[in-house]
Amino acid sequence: IRIAVINGPNLNLLGVRQPEIYGYDTLADLESQMRAAAGNNAQLSFMQSNHEGEIIEEIHRARNEADAIIINPAAYSHTSVAILDALNTFEGKVMEVHLSNIHKREKFRHHSWVSGRADAVICGMGMAGYLAALNYLMAS
Ligand code: DQA
Repeated sequence: IRIAVINGPNLNLLGVRQPEIYGYDTLADLESQMRAAAGNNAQLSFMQSNHEGEIIEEIHRARNEADAIIINPAAYSHTSVAILDALNTFEGKVMEVHLSNIHKREKFRHHSWVSGRADAVICGMGMAGYLAALNYLMAS
């Protein structure tokens, strides 16, 4: 299975950005943990962008080159109909992941546009959420 892992704005600063909320592991740590978990059972691609249009273009790329998407759209979850529309053009499984429990935080984080397309939504498990999504996809 080919899986595109897409991380949205500010997640390049994982490990140093509000570690009390997002933890001390970096995006590079996430990639190595996921690659170790995938072994030869999944082909992973990783992309992070602070730009909405680049995330949309990565989703378009995934239309031809991936069987599933694991996406943390970060703040764009709460604002971006454009990312929702892009995901609606993708035919494979979409797993939405948030490190923090968005429902336990400010009200403006409670709604995610992407959840209207996601096959599953995982939040509040930190990086373990991405690994849960990966294990689910590898088993399905
Ligand atoms: C986040 C939650 C969002 O509300 C926030 O804007 C982020 C990260 C998370 O992983 O918990 O940047 O998606």
